[in-house]
Amino acid sequence: MRLTKAELHKLMKNKLHKAGLKEEHADIVADVLAHADARGIHSHGAMRVEYYAERISKGGTNKNPNFTFEKTGPCSAIFDGDNGAGHVAAKLAMDETIKIAKENGVAIVGVKRVGHTGALSYFVQQAASEGLIGIALCQSDPMCVPYGGTEPYYGTNPIAFATPSKSGKYLMMDMATTIQAWGKILHARSKGTPIDPTWAVDKDGNPTGDPLKVNALTPIAGPKGYALQMMVDVLSGVLLGLPFGKRVTSMYSDLTEDRNLGQLNIVINPAYFTNVEKFLENIDQTMEDLSTMKPASGFDSVRYPGQSSMIREENYKRDGIEIVDEIYNYLTSDDVHYNNYDHKGAFAVE
Ligand code: NAI
Repeated sequence: MRLTKAELHKLMKNKLHKAGLKEEHADIVADVLAHADARGIHSHGAMRVEYYAERISKGGTNKNPNFTFEKTGPCSAIFDGDNGAGHVAAKLAMDETIKIAKENGVAIVGVKRVGHTGALSYFVQQAASEGLIGIALCQSDPMCVPYGGTEPYYGTNPIAFATPSKSGKYLMMDMATTIQAWGKILHARSKGTPIDPTWAVDKDGNPTGDPLKVNALTPIAGPKGYALQMMVDVLSGVLLGLPFGKRVTSMYSDLTEDRNLGQLNIVINPAYFTNVEKFLENIDQTMEDLSTMKPASGFDSVRYPGQSSMIREENYKRDGIEIVDEIYNYLTSDDVHYNNYDHKGAFAVE
């Protein structure tokens, strides 16, 4: 089924509201999810609604959070999300981060005690659309082995970055720090196909191509990705006084419990560092340099980070966003959820 972004947004908002989220919060969560689907990041779009709806219904997302915002210095602040929907807290916190960076040049806001925040590109784009550089990092549930280890310790701990340009396009990075998402393992399990053995390890920490033997994911670039995961966990967890490493709650273990996750929003105002016009022109120049480079064999072109999502976004505006039947049927049904997720393992099975 192909839907416009507005149609998809409405269906998701209605479902989240029906699950118990107040209307303005359901609106923001749906906006973040529609943003992801509209950019082809379907792993963080409509496919998550059923899980969120189950968690909201069972009390593991605070329906009436008491958000607090405390300035802790000229450029720093803490936004306490009171375990409401993470997307809402992260967005409102980014609004505040932007305000501080406009006034003081840079801003770092810790977003603490939140649920899952979704695709981080949404939040860094908030900053880029205001002519600022946005950076966001967040914790996620432990499902990745440290380099050389046998047990899951860090999550897929994503990092996102976006900068504006004169042309209005964004250079944008938004990536998990694991080689592959758990969704790809589940997909292989359901199809009975092998996986690339670099994606995951078995219970002894050995690479495995058998999706049924997967015990944990692997970090991008071996020890370097592991080091990035450590940095994300320190900055968005330890620094905010939150559970860290293997103590981070699992997404599916108990849907009645708070998640207590953390995110760090950072905004840099280019005007405090350089000539803004030149800066914006040079970002366009960077895109042009990369896009006009001779591609290696097997590649049509060199793409700059964020370009593929931007192209998908343009195509979807024309053709509609493809939503698989199962998700469309759920979104248009009267059911709030199907009790599919509670007390499941890290990979939403067992
Ligand atoms: P991905 O693998 O689709 O893309 C990663 C990065 O590579 C992007 O910046 C993309 O622009 C760039 N890229 C991809 N192909 C490229 C090419 N040919 N040339 C140049 N650049 C290219 O993203 P991934 O790692 O699967 O993450 C998906 C989403 O999951 C993100 O939105 C992330 O924020 C979200 N996420 C959220 C978590 C949470 O707990 N809130 C946890 C983990 C991920």
